Amino acid sequence: MTHKKGLIAYHTQYGSTAEVAYWLKVLIGKDQRVDVKSMDQILTVEPYDYIIIGSYARWEKPSKKTYAFVEKFLKDLKDRQVAYFITSGDCDETTVMNMPGKPPHLTSGRNYLFDIQAKFPDIKPVTTGGFGGRQATPLLNTKDSLLIWLLEKTMPKDKIGWAGRDIWESLICERVEAFADELRKTVLSLPPCNDAASLRGCWTSLQPAHLTDPLIEKNTVKPYSQKQDTPRMLLSRFRIKGSLLDAVSFIHEWSIQSATELKEIQKDYYILYYQATKSQNSKNRTIHIVAALFSEDPGAVHIALRNYDKPPLRGKAASDMALAEEILCADGRGLS
Ligand SMILES: Cc1cc2nc3c(=O)[nH]c(=O)nc-3n(C[C@H](O)[C@H](O)[C@H](O)COP(=O)(O)O)c2cc1C
Repeated sequence: MTHKKGLIAYHTQYGSTAEVAYWLKVLIGKDQRVDVKSMDQILTVEPYDYIIIGSYARWEKPSKKTYAFVEKFLKDLKDRQVAYFITSGDCDETTVMNMPGKPPHLTSGRNYLFDIQAKFPDIKPVTTGGFGGRQATPLLNTKDSLLIWLLEKTMPKDKIGWAGRDIWESLICERVEAFADELRKTVLSLPPCNDAASLRGCWTSLQPAHLTDPLIEKNTVKPYSQKQDTPRMLLSRFRIKGSLLDAVSFIHEWSIQSATELKEIQKDYYILYYQATKSQNSKNRTIHIVAALFSEDPGAVHIALRNYDKPPLRGKAASDMALAEEILCADGRGLS
């Protein structure tokens, strides 16, 4: 047992984040000193060497209480090892949100943690996790169910293509396990947990996922390959073998071949988001390109290409996207 003391500080509304917090404690190790506390219970973080901060996502960010928690203990957190995790409905990190009122931006999973990291730049997390969440729709309070109902009515269907139960019951257990292993390695110098599969009590519980129909199998494989050609968007989503660096070099090769100008919009250790623009009939046409690593799919890079031009104006973007896919998937790199 190492002498380091850990704290998992969580904020939950409907229980998923608490469930994950206790699960993480077990994955970090029964022999480790790890306290699990709701943020409401925490008087001080002073006794701990490392603090794991977990929240649910609310409007693409951690909860307000999570920001207040970090602000309150900032002085101590700056001097300690910190990791963030988030539970959410959406967890496909290649998703770009393009809605009026905000520039297009990365959304979902770990991407919901960009804002809190930008607000508190003195905290440099050792790792981050975006796990998805558990089904809570039948239990939402009146205000939340109204908000979600409105959201479902008004949101463009930009998401990767799972909806209803799947968007809520979206937790990916391998992500929780990979996050715990990363903490074991970087904070505690321990090898990966060797019995993670036997500790999936949260994932295999009969509720809430099985509440409506115990015969429904959980989806462990998401539809990560997809094509969409709707009035709002042209999307090509696929996976290739290789590293993020490989993908980046192919994207640069494509930008030269297609004479597009690449602008880096967001970068983190697991993701790159570019906007590739090209002038056409004196208008700038943009292709949004995301390349991301998912811990449940080691050795693969997930790619999403999007164009939001109106269908009659998409011709050139469509052929440029096809060329990008061809270059990225060449030499047998494309995965089904
Ligand atoms: C009002 C409301 C807003 C939400 N906003 C988002 C969001 O912006 N993005 C997302 O992926 N999930 C969103 N969710 C889903 C929750 O983040 C998700 O269900 C989470 O796992 C709940 O955690 P908890 O059970 O610990 O409260 C929202 C849920 C509610 C009720």
